[in-house]
Amino acid sequence: KLADTFDYNYDEKYRPAFHFTPPYGWMNDPNGMVYYDGVFHLAYQYNPLGTRWQNMSWGHATSKDLVTWEHQPVALYPDTLGAIFSGSAVVDMHNTTGLQSGEEKTLLAYFTHAGPNGQVQSLAYSNDKGETWTKYEKNPILTHFEDDPDFRDPKVFWHADTERWVMVIARSLKKEMELYSSDNGIDWQYESSFGQGQGAQGGIWECPDLFEMAVEGEAGESRWVLICNLNPGGPSGGSAAQYFIGDFDGRVFTNHAEPSDIKWMDWGKDHYATVTWSDVPESDGRRLAIGWMSNWEYANDVPTKNFRSAMTVARELKLVTKGEELVLASYPVEELKKLRTEEISFDHIVVENEHVVDSLLNHNEGAYELTLALDASDSDVAGLTLFNNNGEVVDISISLSKGELYMDRTNSGLTDFNDRFKAVTFAPVEKKERYELRILVDKASVEIFEGKGSTVMTNIVFPTEPYNRLKFYTKGGNTIVQDFKIYRLN
Ligand code: FRU
Repeated sequence: KLADTFDYNYDEKYRPAFHFTPPYGWMNDPNGMVYYDGVFHLAYQYNPLGTRWQNMSWGHATSKDLVTWEHQPVALYPDTLGAIFSGSAVVDMHNTTGLQSGEEKTLLAYFTHAGPNGQVQSLAYSNDKGETWTKYEKNPILTHFEDDPDFRDPKVFWHADTERWVMVIARSLKKEMELYSSDNGIDWQYESSFGQGQGAQGGIWECPDLFEMAVEGEAGESRWVLICNLNPGGPSGGSAAQYFIGDFDGRVFTNHAEPSDIKWMDWGKDHYATVTWSDVPESDGRRLAIGWMSNWEYANDVPTKNFRSAMTVARELKLVTKGEELVLASYPVEELKKLRTEEISFDHIVVENEHVVDSLLNHNEGAYELTLALDASDSDVAGLTLFNNNGEVVDISISLSKGELYMDRTNSGLTDFNDRFKAVTFAPVEKKERYELRILVDKASVEIFEGKGSTVMTNIVFPTEPYNRLKFYTKGGNTIVQDFKIYRLN
């Protein structure tokens, strides 16, 4: 449907098998994620004309299962007010805007216009279930400069208790998130700011989200979560997503943690601009997120040809206890299991030094999943190395003495396209007897979920051929590998 005039090759080598990518061209942040009438919408920062960041538009795709996506025509193109930067979408359930024209509820898209006058907020709407979008004729709807033009990425939601809309938006250079409210979704009042001295401050703040979530295992308990994407200043350099847990009364967000406390959603280098879907029905009840699987340090240089960058898999968020702490866990959506086409299981493996699995899959096309539990209570380090016949490796290990999980991609394949690509990423993990790992491998990425997503690490890789071999290893004692399974995904 889209970009048919381009001679694009959908099957190029690093085109993922099960991660969303644009048909042709550059993609960054996910935008306008909303559920309506059985369909999940995913818009995204898009350059339909090239594979570097430029001409920002909203590309658009839809899905019924968050796993397979159908490309739709570009939803929003730049205009005289500027390029179309990031933002969100919601269903106008009560027709507060008065923009509804037929039976279907109106979908509202809030986005940043970035143009000659800096960054201003605008509205577009759809009365045909998201098929076509009309820009509101009196745009922009919110301008607020002072001397600070960096004001962007509005995330809007309906706040039931106060029966009005709330917008959370990044005051990027000040490293603050501002809150606004509105009765009609068009006229907005400033309410409060959150940020000064809070959390990670190593870069500008972008792409916020704010939502209430139940605390797992504590009936009736809930918290508000504020997502704050940060660039640079992530745990292993460059872009990353941090979050705060606290309260929100309709006007002010209060952080429950010490201001100096930093919480990361994902400890890899390639998880950014993550936000969640609006209007997922109560009958579903999940808080669903997706992120951009790249990093501003090198996103424009990654070695793909006809497109640039993929999204993470869609993930379900939960507030769970990790040790003493409440954390935001993210885990692949259940629907992803539909892609499992072949299963290989191994018995209990006792690793005394190392144990090699010489072939993971016949005709391995580079898209598979590994699940296992490591009982490493007798050792200092337990790890697994994925490798191929060209000597390229991804090493994943847990240091029991340090309580850290690592992924090393320094020799993972193509790495020289940018100095900052080679990396060993780390995450703190609890010291425990048994680590449950789920590892999603696609043609150009590795996503590690430990403890049902209470620790997550996402990194892109460019192996010259799929990693089809694996070595378990241990240092300072034995490790037992339990319930090891390989699933082909397609
Ligand atoms: C985040 C970001 C947003 C902005 C968009 C522009 O990656 O910088 O703040 O709206 O990208 O493409």
